[in-house]
Amino acid sequence: MLGPPGAGKGTQARKLAEEFHIPQISTGDIFRKAVQDNTPMGKKAKEYMDSGMLVPDDIVIGIVEERLDQPDVNAGFVLDGFPRTLYQAERLEQILQKKARGIDAVINIRVRRDAIIERFTGRRVCKSCGASYHVKYNPPRRPGLCDACGNELVIRPDDELETVKKRLEEYEQKTAPLIEFYQSRRLLIDIDGDKTIDEVHKSIVDMLRGEEK
Ligand code: AP5
Repeated sequence: MLGPPGAGKGTQARKLAEEFHIPQISTGDIFRKAVQDNTPMGKKAKEYMDSGMLVPDDIVIGIVEERLDQPDVNAGFVLDGFPRTLYQAERLEQILQKKARGIDAVINIRVRRDAIIERFTGRRVCKSCGASYHVKYNPPRRPGLCDACGNELVIRPDDELETVKKRLEEYEQKTAPLIEFYQSRRLLIDIDGDKTIDEVHKSIVDMLRGEEK
């Protein structure tokens, strides 16, 4: 899943994972869990996340490589928030080649800038399982509590306006070039993200099913 911060990558990745019965691999979620558990990697990642910067490539790539060694990815997987730099994209190709696997599609979610800011301000995430909600567009059934695990919903520390600005800057500089990279490999599927969550999901599934034919 490709797209600027707040575009809805996590929301859509989760729905795709359910639809196709495959795991969602979110580097952001992996880092947030490590921060919560106060692991050495979590402490390192926190420094970058809190300031809206990308975590260094070598840390991220090591984590993804390890995750892709797990048996549950055999039937496929959705990568959410990775790769985020050209170097990560190149390394991902090498990792997958070694496993005789490849990427089927890169979903690029496009969203208007003003809609992104609104998505950030209304976002609430589960402290425990990482599920993402929106107070207006995707409210939980019980206010303040996660539908999936019942735990408390909180505002993500990096959703503060100044940090969001830095994250958007990082995206433009380091991640947006991946659009051209995957276009040149004929893997890019552009999706209009300015629709409801269910409409966006349907467009993605329709496109993916079309690719399968
Ligand atoms: P990460 O967690 O990946 O954050 P991000 O890419 O900035 O993306 P977000 O999680 O903010 O947004 P999203 O697109 O998933 O949107 P969501 O579905 O939640 O990364 C966090 C940090 O970790 C990074 O800054 C970096 O430091 C580090 N990191 C992670 N991966 C890395 C990597 N590969 N390399 C280096 N560093 C890395 O939706 C947002 C809100 O909008 C929600 O409230 C949702 O309910 C709502 N919403 C979603 N879709 C819609 C819709 N269609 N209509 C209305 N509302 C919607």
